[in-house]
Amino acid sequence: VEAERMRVCVIGTGYLGATTAACLSEMGFEVIGLDVDEDKIDMLRSGRVPFYEPGLDELLAENLKTGRLHFTTDFAEAADFADLHLICVGTPQRDDSGAADLRYVNSAVECLAPHLKRPTVVVGRSTVPVGTAATLAARLAALAPAGEEAELGWSPEFLREGFGVEDTLRPNRIVIGTNSPRVEKAVRALWQQQVDEGTPFLVTDLQTAELVKVSANAFLATKISFINAMAEVSEVAGADVIQLAEALSYDDRIGGKFLGPGLGFGGGCLPKDIRAFMARADELGVEPALSFLREVDAINQRRRARTIDIARQLIGGNFAGRTVTVLGAAFKPNSDDIRDSPALDVAATIASLGAHVTVYDPQALERAREAHPELNYATSMLDAARDADVVLLLTEWAEFREANPEELASVVAQKRIVDGRNALDPTFWRASGWTYRALGRQ
Ligand code: UGA
Repeated sequence: VEAERMRVCVIGTGYLGATTAACLSEMGFEVIGLDVDEDKIDMLRSGRVPFYEPGLDELLAENLKTGRLHFTTDFAEAADFADLHLICVGTPQRDDSGAADLRYVNSAVECLAPHLKRPTVVVGRSTVPVGTAATLAARLAALAPAGEEAELGWSPEFLREGFGVEDTLRPNRIVIGTNSPRVEKAVRALWQQQVDEGTPFLVTDLQTAELVKVSANAFLATKISFINAMAEVSEVAGADVIQLAEALSYDDRIGGKFLGPGLGFGGGCLPKDIRAFMARADELGVEPALSFLREVDAINQRRRARTIDIARQLIGGNFAGRTVTVLGAAFKPNSDDIRDSPALDVAATIASLGAHVTVYDPQALERAREAHPELNYATSMLDAARDADVVLLLTEWAEFREANPEELASVVAQKRIVDGRNALDPTFWRASGWTYRALGRQ
């Protein structure tokens, strides 16, 4: 497989796959993006990104124009076209057990394999329970006409939503799990530019590669829950977790990133990944090794309950009949993703307690409305805040960070705000007459 001639197929065109396909074509590869969802493929073909990811629309449009980027729903066409296939489909949480649902990765391999007639490299990028790749590798070889020459490796990705383009074009490391020189060579060719510029390239076995991904997300979740546990203690001890976090951050063994206390983590990755990791450890008989992740999850859930308590206290103990404004629906800023969104979870709970809840988000309104038709929605911050008894800031969009307390004061019924993301300056808001409350601070 020659580097410059390599043709790549990306299977799955969600946040990961669509971003990967556009970025690889931007890097000069011939790329075909494949999805079983015809609507998604139609949108992408016409240059529209089915979700919000900064910078991706431009990249998609440009590369459709260069002719390096195509989309299809046809596995035969993809197999004919590509030398390297990247599996970028989702692995959602299956049920209450927390285990990962592998139906999409399994089906990607099963649909592709029968069309692989010449030597081909297939590389999984989805997040999977350790042990999945070895099973898939055997399945691929068994189903492909090319037999053992259809080889499978695993190369986890680490991109963050909202920074997907940047993280893909400039990854902080490439990990490839394989013992096949051909697989290693193909993946190295894919990232040659980045490796030349200093990106670490690690070759591991399949299991280690799978584990790198989930352990990275487990570590990140743990770091967030650690500082949120300190917030819980700070609240009752009379301390300030923001100052605490700053003081910790100057120890470079600890570092300041992912040490932001607040409403905690959500999204399509961290929550389900730690649960799937625990479920897998259970199956492997090493459950105690990850039992701390149960606490990580519990601390994270308690922040949501605490946020609701603070709001309830502020309005005198009962939500029934009160008007509540929620700023933010996406699980984090610069995204329209509402999967396991702490903001929407809090909004829905408050509504279930009898409040009239109005939500505003700069990007996620449409998705929020679909998932939670019982909530009210406004198309601007000021509209959402009209007549509010309390305002909750639950996703720290720049628009909210920069909100003008005087302007907001002019529309609300009561100047009360719960800053669930520690995104505002308390002194500034209190100076405008607001009752300001935050997590982990007095
Ligand atoms: C996460 C990881 O950061 C990526 O490295 C990984 O590739 C990705 O999952 C994945 O598995 O695909 P993402 O879910 O896009 O990325 O979002 P993050 O930026 O990690 O934020 C996760 C959640 O943690 C958000 O709800 C955010 O509000 C929260 N968070 C983050 C905090 O509460 N405090 C912090 O200090 C940082």
